[in-house]
Amino acid sequence: MKRSIASVHARRVWDSRGRPTLEAEVTLADGTAGRAIAPAGASTGSAEALDLRDGGTAFGGMDVQRACAAVNGEIAAALAGRDPTQQGALDAVLIALDGTPDKRRLGGNAMVAVSMALAHVAAASQRLPLWRYLAGSRTEFCLPLPEVQIFGGGAHAGRRVDVQDFMVVAIGATDYAQALEWTAEVYRAAGELMAKAGRLSGVADEGGWWPAFDTNEEALEFLQRAIEHAGYTAGQDVAIALDIAASDFGKGGRYRLACEGREVDSDALAEMLLGWLRRYAIVSIEDPFAEDDAQALRRFTLEAGPKVQIVADDFICTNALRIAGAALLGACNTALIKPNQAGTLSETRAALDAARAAGWGAIASARSGETEDVTISHLAVGWGVKQLKVGSFARSERMAKWNEGLRIGEAIGSFALPPRCAFPWSN
Ligand code: PGA
Ligand code: ZN
Repeated sequence: MKRSIASVHARRVWDSRGRPTLEAEVTLADGTAGRAIAPAGASTGSAEALDLRDGGTAFGGMDVQRACAAVNGEIAAALAGRDPTQQGALDAVLIALDGTPDKRRLGGNAMVAVSMALAHVAAASQRLPLWRYLAGSRTEFCLPLPEVQIFGGGAHAGRRVDVQDFMVVAIGATDYAQALEWTAEVYRAAGELMAKAGRLSGVADEGGWWPAFDTNEEALEFLQRAIEHAGYTAGQDVAIALDIAASDFGKGGRYRLACEGREVDSDALAEMLLGWLRRYAIVSIEDPFAEDDAQALRRFTLEAGPKVQIVADDFICTNALRIAGAALLGACNTALIKPNQAGTLSETRAALDAARAAGWGAIASARSGETEDVTISHLAVGWGVKQLKVGSFARSERMAKWNEGLRIGEAIGSFALPPRCAFPWSN
């Protein structure tokens, strides 16, 4: 069979933080090849698929030789001769072969790279771009609304401020290309304002400006000012989105705001966030409480959920069962969808389907450790996920994803975004 898998190979490559990661390459009997690279998180949820890292002293213990060996040995043997278009069955083979609940034996990094490479080679075997292959029988397409980091904080900026992502969403843009233009102007304006204020000290892990601010709210104030400085109306043209990533500084209902030198409980944190929602043009807020603080998430969703998008990342870890449970509880209303949290594309798709079944929105998302891999852009368009988060508007591992959206838009023949009314309830 021409379309059968002839080889599966993994090689060690390097990510945007200069850390090892792995690239999987699947080749068919007729020579068609597809490849994908595993990304890596820094502020990870505890229920994520685990990356297999070598430990020891080399590269801070982050090497992936064992994960590469798992691909080149067991995984390659199990997939040889199979039909690459049977994504569900092949992912089931990977899951059974690993045999652990958190993918620790073969490694979530090994599995997601292979799973994504399978989709790439299957698409290539049908001479289709990946987004078109993933769309199946769908015929209507739009590009995702970009959610773009302007300041990076938390684990991505030496904990300079506690909040991790200060982002913008060009909710008033007429299409994807214009959303990128507006984002570029805001990113530049923010850099200019910071330079003028003597607050510019480089960029954080995802390309956002390193926030040299004294409080979390000062960053918010600056962001709102940058939107206006760039000539847009905050909340109408360009709005603010936050990823609090609260699991990184909170546990057991206590939250340590290190940059402000104080500790607050869930209620006080809720008050602070609700105050921000009143004072700033915020339309989306991710992980506002820690992953172990489901009741605070529920209360906050009840209060703020009708007006803003409340995004679950660490809380649900791209897991269909967790999303169903969170929806039942009424905690959050939108799922962040990260393939490497799930470990295979089929499980990622199941999480998206669970979000849709619950009436939740969804955002496709890259990780803080990224590469030139652009699978996530194709996945957003192909699966009809209406928002995309891939970090900031600088550095090629980020721009590769935004630029791929422009190429896909040309192929579709339109840069159309989801209907305006779909935000924030865009599932
Ligand atoms: P991570 O950050 O990739 O470091 O986990 C991204 C996020 O929290 O959304
Ligand atoms: Zn997050």
